Amino acid sequence: MDHFDHAFELEQALAAKGDTVRLDAVRDPARLADIHHIRQGDPLGLGHAVLCARHHVGDQPFAVLLGDDLIDPRETLLSRMPEVRDRHQGSVVALMEVPPEQIHLYGCAAVEPSGEDGVVRVTGLVEKPSRADAPSRYAVIGRYVLDPAVFGILEDVPPGRGGEIQLTDALQELAAGGTVHAVVFDGLRYDTGDKADYLRTVVRLACDRADLGPEFTAWLKEFVAGLEGTGAERGRFAA
Ligand code: G1P
Repeated sequence: MDHFDHAFELEQALAAKGDTVRLDAVRDPARLADIHHIRQGDPLGLGHAVLCARHHVGDQPFAVLLGDDLIDPRETLLSRMPEVRDRHQGSVVALMEVPPEQIHLYGCAAVEPSGEDGVVRVTGLVEKPSRADAPSRYAVIGRYVLDPAVFGILEDVPPGRGGEIQLTDALQELAAGGTVHAVVFDGLRYDTGDKADYLRTVVRLACDRADLGPEFTAWLKEFVAGLEGTGAERGRFAA
């Protein structure tokens, strides 16, 4: 919440120094949009978190973006999902094929063709199934365009996996009624919800940056060569 607010003391100090570059960088997040916040209070699950926004959203379709799931800004997923909602109504999730040994980390969807390229109809959803129970290799990733009908279901849905109110369980009810579609995504996604993936994400995004990328990539290559080399080479690199 503070990140998207003004940081008056910092802004004043930077203005006094005449550091306009950093001043702009500090002010940018507050200029991005008109941002409203709701605190979830208790960690009762993703479904509960979405329900907390009910009175803000009202009776209109809305998007849910999970902050630990990054989609590369060059991808078109976020513009395609509202288009699919416009064509089919109901709710739209995003799916990505994952190796069977990773499906237990995600909501998993049973699907059938929709007749449209890259879009499927979701016939069932299960939250974090075991590999044996998973209906497919399609994992739900953290982008949703939801019909407000989901709020009424979330109010009554009993705690599911981990004792939490699961968004996936509410969407399963909507899917049973035939009103959930999915965009199948195979582009660049970075999962920062786990420590090792977080590190991989930082390295990949750092390499991509126009300002830091070239220098960082050169350093990284040398670092990896050092890891693969002899003890002496490692010592030299460390020095
Ligand atoms: C949540 C959802 C899960 C979804 C995942 C995507 O799980 O409950 O269905 O597949 O986000 O990142 P979490 O990662 O919060 O445990």
